[in-house]
Amino acid sequence: MSTLLDENTTGTPSKGLREGAFGNARALACRECGHEVALGPSYACPECFGPLEVAYDFPTVTREEIAAGPRNIWRYKALLPVPDDIEQSPNTEPGFTRLLEAKNLARELGLEKLWVKDDSTNPTNSFKDRVVACALSAARELDAKVFACPSTGNLANAVAAAGARAGIKTVVFIPSNLEKPKQVNSAVFTDHLVAVDGNYDDVNKLASEIAGEEEGWAFVNVNVRPFYAEGSKTLGYEIAEQLGWRLPDQIVIPVASGSQLTKVDKAFKELIALGLVEDKPYKVFGAQATGCSPVSVAYKAGTDAIRPVKPDTIAKSLAIGNPADGIYVLDICRRSGGAVEDITDDEVREAIVLLARTEGIFTETAGGTTVGVLKKLVESGQLDTSLETVVINTGHGLKTLDAVSDRVGAVATIAPSYDAFVASGIL
Ligand SMILES: Cc1ncc(COP(=O)(O)O)c(C=O)c1O
Ligand SMILES: [Zn+2]
Repeated sequence: MSTLLDENTTGTPSKGLREGAFGNARALACRECGHEVALGPSYACPECFGPLEVAYDFPTVTREEIAAGPRNIWRYKALLPVPDDIEQSPNTEPGFTRLLEAKNLARELGLEKLWVKDDSTNPTNSFKDRVVACALSAARELDAKVFACPSTGNLANAVAAAGARAGIKTVVFIPSNLEKPKQVNSAVFTDHLVAVDGNYDDVNKLASEIAGEEEGWAFVNVNVRPFYAEGSKTLGYEIAEQLGWRLPDQIVIPVASGSQLTKVDKAFKELIALGLVEDKPYKVFGAQATGCSPVSVAYKAGTDAIRPVKPDTIAKSLAIGNPADGIYVLDICRRSGGAVEDITDDEVREAIVLLARTEGIFTETAGGTTVGVLKKLVESGQLDTSLETVVINTGHGLKTLDAVSDRVGAVATIAPSYDAFVASGIL
């Protein structure tokens, strides 16, 4: 593979990196064998081809230092692979989204205490702004000329917006059958939205090929994936901080590649190791749509072998048939006493309306999947209703209007007169 700077698999630091380019990050460490390589645009272990992730030498970090930071993800910059002066560089400054106590939904589902972490209010209306903010920092430090991604939609929106603000050329690749609002939401920020005739896994393969051929391209979820993935940790940090520096008992998280779920778990473990929260057990649950549920299928079969599938679901943002981090999702959910569950497209639609009608939150199909799985987990007794539960809403419903547009609408069309209103019988 060609790289942004140099072939960087030997353990020596990348040439040309400025001091502190990746903050307190020490190296990239293999998740399988622990082998460490120098920080740079690498993503596969040179020893065993396992995935690389960022390893740190953390300094002491206090709650007070974090609380004194900005109300965005950079309040946790000491725990991310970003330089200390990150706030000086234009980015979309995502994060610090609301954590809402969902009393109505809790009552409806029979849960004692439920919170919704609502990431639909990020700059491009999904949690992807978090990962992209970290990837942009890495791309900048590695002197990338092009900022790019294969995407199921939300990532492309976030890359295109962040690149526009940073003044770096963006090229984003999507499956051509993607929802129209997600296409427009990218094209408004970039001249280079490329629709590929194929599913996400085809788009991803193409991106890997381009990353191998072209110099100077930072593909956020390919060759700078280790840095990108760290952005999802901020969801976990925020949940803990917003709960008053403690961890929830149970958390339900959607799964596409599985990166978000594994990084929220990493965040919780880091907070415990740093003494920022009390050590306690917590259960992690993964949510998929039945039409693309390779991880849920493996979970239910009690196997580690995840069989790739061809996606067929309205939850297009979760439609990754061959999830890179699926195996780690299985491990985390099993070890923590959680589970991975899936629901039908009809249940996804129902759950979108349920969340809207109970909590005033309009979620996209990914959130419908997560809330619907939460409901199914309660009904099947897999979730303990007496424990405090957090459910993550990762994206906004305006991006997937078609999912519910034939289920909801005007109750009546009337003439603009009081008599017509009375005659309609609405009251
Ligand atoms: C709205 C939304 N939620 C959840 C996910 C799942 O993310 P991951 O690939 O980290 O599992 C995605 C991925 O694109 C998404 O767009
Ligand atoms: Zn390895």
